[in-house]
Amino acid sequence: MGKQTVVTHSRLETESFAAEFAKTVSPGTVIAFEGDLGAGKTCFTSGFAKGMGYLGEVNSPTFAIVNEYIGGRLDIYHFDMYRVEGWDDLYTTGYFEYLEMGGVLMVEWSENIASALPEDTVKVTIETLSENERRITITVTEGRNSV
Ligand SMILES: Nc1ncnc2c1ncn2[C@@H]1O[C@H](COP(=O)(O)OP(=O)(O)OP(=O)(O)O)[C@@H](O)[C@H]1O
Ligand SMILES: [Mg+2]
Repeated sequence: MGKQTVVTHSRLETESFAAEFAKTVSPGTVIAFEGDLGAGKTCFTSGFAKGMGYLGEVNSPTFAIVNEYIGGRLDIYHFDMYRVEGWDDLYTTGYFEYLEMGGVLMVEWSENIASALPEDTVKVTIETLSENERRITITVTEGRNSV
C-alpha cells in the first residue's frame, strides 16, 4: 500500500498537484474522495482533468450526478454521490456501466457508496487545515496503480 501526502496553500497549488498525479493514473482507476463540504474535491478534479489533457470546463456534478470529460489521455467520469442513497439510486446513475468503460472514475462523497467501490480504489482524502491550507493524502492499495 502506497501513500503520498502534500499540504497545499491555494486552489492553484491543489490543481497543479492533481494535474501531476493525473499523469500517473492507469485506465480503469476509481478515485474516491473523502473530505467535507468545500474541502477541494471539485478543485482537485479540475486540475486532474487538465493534467489528463482535457481542455473543457470542470463543474460540480451536484445535480447531474455525473459529468463526462472526454478527449484527454483517459476519459474521466466525475460523480457527486452526495444525494445518492442505496443501491437503487446507484444503479440509476449508471455507475456500474461507467466502471466497465476503461476511463477514470472520480467520486465525490464516495462515503455514500463505500460498499460499491472496487478493492483497488485509490483514496484521496482532503483535510481543511485553515482557510487556504489543505492536506491531501493519496492512498493506493495493491492493484492497478501500484508498482
Ligand atoms: N489549498 C486549497 N486547495 C483547494 N481549494 C482551496 C484551497 N484553499 C482554498 N480553497 C477553496 O476551497 C474551495 C474548494 O471548493 P470545491 O468545490 O473544490 O470543494 P468540494 O470539496 O468539491 O465541495 P463539495 O463537497 O461542496 O462538492 C474553493 O472555494 C477553493 O477556492
Ligand atoms: Mg464538489
